[in-house]
Amino acid sequence: MDEQGIIQKTADHVRVLLSGDSSGHDWFHVERVRNTALAIAREEGADEFIVDLAALLHDVADWKFADGDHTASPRAARRWLETQELVPGVIEHVEEIVASLSFKGAGVATPMRTLEGQIVQDADRLDALGAIGIARTFAYGGHKGQALHDPAIPPQMHASFEAYKSNVGTTINHFYEKLLLLKDRMNTAAGKRLAAERHAFMERFLEQFFAEWQGQR
Ligand code: ADP
Ligand code: NI
Repeated sequence: MDEQGIIQKTADHVRVLLSGDSSGHDWFHVERVRNTALAIAREEGADEFIVDLAALLHDVADWKFADGDHTASPRAARRWLETQELVPGVIEHVEEIVASLSFKGAGVATPMRTLEGQIVQDADRLDALGAIGIARTFAYGGHKGQALHDPAIPPQMHASFEAYKSNVGTTINHFYEKLLLLKDRMNTAAGKRLAAERHAFMERFLEQFFAEWQGQR
């Protein structure tokens, strides 16, 4: 089968798997990440087939919903790709990207070895920023039953993935624990440019949020 056929079958597979999700990891998230990643891939001259496959498969079994097992998504990606006819190296490359993608805490580096991986990581992180990022963060917080905000609970700068995973915090703290840190961790020029705009929008949102919290606006 040609690459376009494999992409189409993979997209159909992922759409079925993620239908009905209300945690911010739905098919539309995958579609946005994919579109952003492919746009950056064209700008950077990366392998669009790898970028597309990795973007499609990056959230098929997120660790947050697989009892904390962060090997679930890369394994699920491999299992699917093994059913397709692919040239050697593609499965390993996509599996590596999916395994290395996630944010793991303020103090934990998440290096990405290949340009294709860097692009998918940027695209996934961009979808956690800006207006959509804000919406997804509150959707996730509601899904988890977190408080919107509690002035008595300070943000935590997690030094390990274990600490980040087990954190029970507030949704506003998530901005300080992750979202506002992302703009300085982008890999590509396009990723940095887009992240800067979305970052500025989140700062305006937070300023307004705290002013309203104190009854000032
Ligand atoms: P990544 O793809 O970088 O691993 P995640 O899958 O961790 O991103 O996050 C998916 C969405 O859920 C993002 O919008 C993220 O900001 C949000 N999210 C993750 N953890 C929390 C949390 N503890 N509170 C609120 N939102 C969260
Ligand atoms: Ni994602």
